[in-house]
Amino acid sequence: MQKIDLFPTPIGIFDVENYQEINEEILSLKNKEQYQFSSDFDIWSFSNENEGLKKLQMKFLEASAELANEIVDENYKWIDFKNLRGWINLQLPGKVGRVHEHGSVSFAGTYYIDVNEDSGTLNLADPRIGISSWLQLPKKFNSLKDNTYKFKPEIGKLILIPGWLLHNIDLNNSDKVRISVSTNIITKYK
Ligand SMILES: [Fe+2]
Repeated sequence: MQKIDLFPTPIGIFDVENYQEINEEILSLKNKEQYQFSSDFDIWSFSNENEGLKKLQMKFLEASAELANEIVDENYKWIDFKNLRGWINLQLPGKVGRVHEHGSVSFAGTYYIDVNEDSGTLNLADPRIGISSWLQLPKKFNSLKDNTYKFKPEIGKLILIPGWLLHNIDLNNSDKVRISVSTNIITKYK
């Protein structure tokens, strides 16, 4: 028998160097009234005056190139990446993040500034329509186990997922605000 595993879903998980420094710099925005520490503004527009944001924006682009290298092999050399809007997510205790996707962007990326054990996993949904019928098979015949992958965020980690992948954030069961930065990344041909 020849078995082919078709249509993989590439996810990239990265460690960001000097994350304490980056986080401190980004969080300093909170004290500046004009920056409106909320999800309504494009944080990359402040990259020139905030070193932490500048480094993080660069990291998102480098990470995209690294993941693309794994997906399309040599061809990535012809591709460049560009950040679209970036925003800060503040998920208050007791809140959940609704199921959504980011449409046709190449990658949706998130970087974690302040999270803990109980502040909620990032849940990635199995994109195969109809997979639920397989999940009803007895467990001993079934290596699929679940149709959701729960990614446990850690401070200083960055994750990239395909823009089309449905995801949501679990309940923030901690007493602290869960803080992350997200962005959409598109490809741009050189
Ligand atoms: Fe999202």
